[in-house]
Amino acid sequence: MIPSIVNMQDAFSLKGKNALVTGGNRGLGLAIASAFAQQGANVAIFCRDAKKAAEAIEELKPFGGKYQSFSCDVTNLPNVREVVAKAWDEFGGFDILVNNAGVTCVSELLDMDEELSDWYRVLNTDLNGTVHMTYEVGKKMRAAGKGGSIINVASNAAFIVNKTQAMSPYSSSKAAVVHFTHCMAVELGKHNIRVNAICPGFTNTDLSQFIPKDQFEYINNQMPLGRFGEPIEVGALAVYFASPAAAQVTGTAQVIDGGYILSC
Ligand SMILES: NC(=O)c1ccc[n+]([C@@H]2O[C@H](COP(=O)([O-])OP(=O)(O)OC[C@H]3O[C@@H](n4cnc5c(N)ncnc54)[C@H](OP(=O)(O)O)[C@@H]3O)[C@@H](O)[C@H]2O)c1
Repeated sequence: MIPSIVNMQDAFSLKGKNALVTGGNRGLGLAIASAFAQQGANVAIFCRDAKKAAEAIEELKPFGGKYQSFSCDVTNLPNVREVVAKAWDEFGGFDILVNNAGVTCVSELLDMDEELSDWYRVLNTDLNGTVHMTYEVGKKMRAAGKGGSIINVASNAAFIVNKTQAMSPYSSSKAAVVHFTHCMAVELGKHNIRVNAICPGFTNTDLSQFIPKDQFEYINNQMPLGRFGEPIEVGALAVYFASPAAAQVTGTAQVIDGGYILSC
């Protein structure tokens, strides 16, 4: 059960909590893992790239908690089931799940290959991966009876059509993730499991490095705050959603994009 707020210092503490972050080995996921670790949480990272995972664990170590990586492909439900069970046993359960693993593609629909492989790759990761993890971890959270916080990393692309890049599979999956968040907030509320979404805009990670220089400048000019976001800023928002400060917050989708969706 998430404790009620006693004082503001403790309201944002995650001391003693166990968090599972998919894609926690780099980019936004690593920043979220780091923000959680700095607030006292133990963190399990689910990803595929073992080398990046080992580097991430080294980066977290100075914060003094328990940090461990697990090899898992979120698109593969049997694999998710097996690895969630293993990690749950290793950590003695999870209070926080962050569905952050995601991929994108830049292509107009009519230019995709005959198998629509980009469409299925993005939907299978960004939407179905989120569903797989929520199903497996959610069932265990419900059985444990201690409540929890699930945070889905969507995107501001859930709400806008990006003029600089055609990415209908990505935008469609993220829009579905936002409404999945609403549905889960209603279904899981009775178990005191809160479900919220974070919708970042352009943020400095590997995912945003493919943007050509002229587009980069155009985007920055459109942005009221005039710059790309930093991953740790998303980490700070994730801390809020996971913490007792947000004990009455569920079913929300918070945009964090420097105001881009208002002016693009
Ligand atoms: N950066 C942005 O501007 C931005 C803006 C809005 C939303 N987002 C969202 O934020 C999230 C993180 O993005 P990012 O920028 O940090 O991306 P990134 O640097 O490219 O990292 C993507 C992460 O997802 C993991 N991943 C991908 N497919 C996976 C799979 N099948 N199973 C397990 N893990 C998988 C990767 O793990 P491996 O290394 O093991 O492949 C990696 O940790 C995504 O959901 C993205 O859509 C990003």
